[in-house]
Amino acid sequence: MKNILITGGAGFIGSNFIRYMLEIDPVVQVINLDLLTYAGSMENLKDLPAPERHTFVAGDICDRALVNGIMNHHRIDTIVHFAAETHVDRSILGPAQFIQTNIVGTFSLLEAARKYWLDENAMPVDTVRFHHVSTDEVFGSLEPTDPPFCETTPYDPRSPYSASKASSDHLVRAYHHTYGLPVTISNCTNNYGPYQFPEKLIPLMITNAMAGKPLPVYGDGQQIRDWLYVEDHCEAIHHILTGGQIGETYAIGGDNQPTNMTLINQICAILDERFPESPNTPHSKLIKTVADRPGHDRRYDMDITRIKTELGWKPRESLGSGLTRTIEWYMNHAEWLNAIRGREDFKGWVDANYNARESKK
Ligand code: NAD
Ligand code: TYD
Repeated sequence: MKNILITGGAGFIGSNFIRYMLEIDPVVQVINLDLLTYAGSMENLKDLPAPERHTFVAGDICDRALVNGIMNHHRIDTIVHFAAETHVDRSILGPAQFIQTNIVGTFSLLEAARKYWLDENAMPVDTVRFHHVSTDEVFGSLEPTDPPFCETTPYDPRSPYSASKASSDHLVRAYHHTYGLPVTISNCTNNYGPYQFPEKLIPLMITNAMAGKPLPVYGDGQQIRDWLYVEDHCEAIHHILTGGQIGETYAIGGDNQPTNMTLINQICAILDERFPESPNTPHSKLIKTVADRPGHDRRYDMDITRIKTELGWKPRESLGSGLTRTIEWYMNHAEWLNAIRGREDFKGWVDANYNARESKK
């Protein structure tokens, strides 16, 4: 791993992964291709540990000529593919961009990798790798007594987001089986931590609660997610890059499954402890149930035995310690947060997603 192309490196997990890689690997060169959509920002890349080993390219993964040029120019030997449209609620209101970025974009990267590594034999094939970052949502929704998802669970995506990610996973596997492209895939549960765009559940709840705004809980709040602190996800991907078997899939998760309501109450309790004097204490009084998400997956849970036993990875943070670190980070980054929350497009999203919900109730 010398020259690594990270797609979507100005987003939440991608920017954390770039930090992680620059810290853990003293020689790696990172080339970061990101379109800077609403979810990506150069603000996420400030204060990198070794900025001289990070090259930013503004552009679209769907732009085949651009991606071919990057592969050649930077002699890319490893691709870690994060770039995607990622928010389920946005995929419900506007699925087209998810099909374009998540499916066509992944296809474009696979074609560029095939051309450079396999057709042009740019470097020995046993020294290259395409790692695809995917989600547990491709497996659908669990009933209360179902066993957790694992690497062999059949695909059953149920939102435009998860269907587009499932499609991209199938393409990646097809390029391995058909052309011999050296790939690995990871399917990870919900992430949280620094730099997460404040439309997703945990940062939305933290920032609304800090501002004394309502905490909108979809439906009965009894949906279950498995939560992983983002640095743990970065470490898991690094384990797969260095020790994972070509052609294989690894399930990643945080080994915890609170209901949304329990999680939100836990966030409120941490804030109460931190700010006993706040007029918003107890913060749980801000909780407000709103109309449910259409097709809302009820329960996710991940069996992470394989990555634990084969690659020796396990999450370091508990949900409590990870939430405390995350809350501290948002409290200390008010400028970062206010810049996003003050944007017209962000306010437009909040209106589009939540006003309709309230009027449906
Ligand atoms: P994010 O929405 O925070 O960031 C996505 C990044 O991709 C942004 O910087 C955006 O500008 C960039 N991007 C979007 N379209 C692009 C394009 N066409 N070309 C180049 N760049 C483009 O996403 P995230 O939460 O960091 O997720 C990263 C990856 O991890 C995604 O593939 C997602 O499916 C996967 N994943 C996320 C989670 C989670 O909980 N966030 C869990 C499991 C898997
Ligand atoms: P989210 O962060 O959007 O992740 P995903 O849908 O990919 O799991 O949502 C996590 C859970 O929180 C999901 O069950 C939907 C729920 N949720 C709310 O109850 N209220 C909200 O305002 C949001 C954004 C999510």
